[in-house]
Amino acid sequence: MGEGSGYGKVILFNEHFVVYSIPAIASAIGSKTIAKVEHLEGKGWSIQDDRPAIPGYKKEKLDHQKESMERILKAAGIDANSTQIKIILEGDLKAASGVGASAASCAAIARALSRQFNLGFSDEKINEIAYEGEKGYHGTPSGIDNTAATFGGLIWFQKGEPNVMERLKLKEPVEIVMGNTGVVANTKAAVAGVKERKENEPEKYENIFNAANDLAQEARKALESYDLEAVGNYMNKNHELLQSIEVSSKDLDLLVELAKDHGALGAKMTGGGLGGYMVALTPGKNVQEEVAKAMEKEGFEALKTRIGI
Ligand code: PMV
Repeated sequence: MGEGSGYGKVILFNEHFVVYSIPAIASAIGSKTIAKVEHLEGKGWSIQDDRPAIPGYKKEKLDHQKESMERILKAAGIDANSTQIKIILEGDLKAASGVGASAASCAAIARALSRQFNLGFSDEKINEIAYEGEKGYHGTPSGIDNTAATFGGLIWFQKGEPNVMERLKLKEPVEIVMGNTGVVANTKAAVAGVKERKENEPEKYENIFNAANDLAQEARKALESYDLEAVGNYMNKNHELLQSIEVSSKDLDLLVELAKDHGALGAKMTGGGLGGYMVALTPGKNVQEEVAKAMEKEGFEALKTRIGI
């Protein structure tokens, strides 16, 4: 049996803007998806999805998952008409919108296939295959999710020909809380909405996008110098920019305010938005616990994890 894993991720700065080649910053988190591949006699492929998931997620993503799997097999050069493959997905990363669940599963499957069929794929190749798999979920993904899922750590990412990926160093890991709205977000629709509004209001969007570009540079400096207060402030500013391109939601805004009121240094939505997760910067176990409890008290689920691992 071939086995492989992919990291969950959190986008700390500039989701959505990243689609238009504005730099973004993401980090792997302490949860992973694990894929196991069994090679059987016969033909075709199947997925047994044993990941923990928020209700409704797996059903909603089933068609995307099928398309993604076809793309992964093609990119890996495996013909499921001449062999039978069973994929088992597990691990501690909850299948939900905003934690990079789809990218983590694509990277995990690519690694497990490489091991099962002795293909010897490098991390770069795994990342390429995971990117192909991500297209099944997102249409035209920027590539940030699969890059974080494949390589881990804290990354600076800029879409382009080729993509720019730099590893950033964080002096020490920092606690975060990811608050879950419980709403399964449709990233494709959110990305399409931004595109449409950007075309209708070019000037307004140009100003916002310029601000996002400047913010990425400043946020990078703050992370690299471990100025967590500044990082938190930039997260707050990033959330405002994301609100202005209309990808936040009532619940995301509520969780962001709640986190700040309970001691988070900063908070923002993360990922596709319109639901899914938000992230709060909560250095130290005490603040982390306090913020998570406040979210749980309001009926939301809170994931306590760390960035920069
Ligand atoms: O919803 P997620 O966690 O898969 O993140 C999507 C990030 C976007 O910037 C909105 C889209 C992309 O392809 O980068």
